[in-house]
Amino acid sequence: MADTEKNLVIFDTDPGIDDAMALLFLKAQPSLKLAAVTTVFGNAETEVTTRNALYLTQRFGIDVPVYAGATRPLTIERGPAPAFIHGEDGLGDVGATQSFAVRPAEGHAADRMVEIIKANPGRVTILAVAPLTNLALALDRDPGIASLVKDVVIMGGAFAWGGRRGNATPVAEANVHNDPHAADRVFTADWPVTAIGLDVTSHCVATHDDAAQLASGGEAGRFLWDISRGYEDLYRRRNQVDGCCLHDVAAAAYLVAPELFALRSGAVRVVTEGIAIGQSIQKLDGHIFGPSAWDGHSSKLVAGEADYAGIVEAYKTAIRSLG
Ligand code: BDR
Ligand code: CA
Repeated sequence: MADTEKNLVIFDTDPGIDDAMALLFLKAQPSLKLAAVTTVFGNAETEVTTRNALYLTQRFGIDVPVYAGATRPLTIERGPAPAFIHGEDGLGDVGATQSFAVRPAEGHAADRMVEIIKANPGRVTILAVAPLTNLALALDRDPGIASLVKDVVIMGGAFAWGGRRGNATPVAEANVHNDPHAADRVFTADWPVTAIGLDVTSHCVATHDDAAQLASGGEAGRFLWDISRGYEDLYRRRNQVDGCCLHDVAAAAYLVAPELFALRSGAVRVVTEGIAIGQSIQKLDGHIFGPSAWDGHSSKLVAGEADYAGIVEAYKTAIRSLG
């Protein structure tokens, strides 16, 4: 497929073990072209997630500029990075990035996002698998981008479809919880948003055997195996699953296989204060209530369920294809 026919993707990310999985999944997709990787705080500080994005793109020959973005949430204080999930270095503390020092490309992630979208009207999908701060900043810098993007696909939120609630708190998913004001800004902007939240991603489990098979198949699978030993262990203890959740991969899979997802339409708001801070709530279209904070906001799509096995299979096929 010629590059001009491919879907252009800005990958906004906080690598992060499942972010690394998603980036390698994207590399394997012939119908997608990465226009930029933009980084933000989340699984580690921005300096670390940027270094990791640079390391991953260079090690796996992904030809794309990496732009560093926000280092803190819009309004609230930055909480501690979850080293117990992704390691101090964000990639499982196996020493992958030790002594790796390459500078990101010039410019702030939010500015570059705006430029790329304006230069390619109707062609760019933002795939955001991290706190939504860069997207909110981009909207503030130029609200006009809302009508120019093709789609905004997010790994974020937990909408209690199928009873699934939070992972950062009992009601809040981590990416939304890390910057609830940014998430509310992104969900209430007048642009298309599809959210693939914990409702779906927590059912997309690559088993220990899946990971072992991929590890014996080539460098990408071996690398993912190495960095995900502690991650898998955490999921085994915390979620009682024999493997780990492919959160960010599931959102990436939506770009190439949307038929795997069942979506619900309705306005989405995010709680920005109090004990439920970071909770994401969808008011389904057609449900009638009294006046509420959801009124006047355009509908967004939220994945309620999906073909979980199909998503895991797509991931395995992608990583295998990288050799
Ligand atoms: C999300 O939070 C991060 O820790 C993961 O990379 C994923 O994007 C899951 O809640
Ligand atoms: Ca992530």
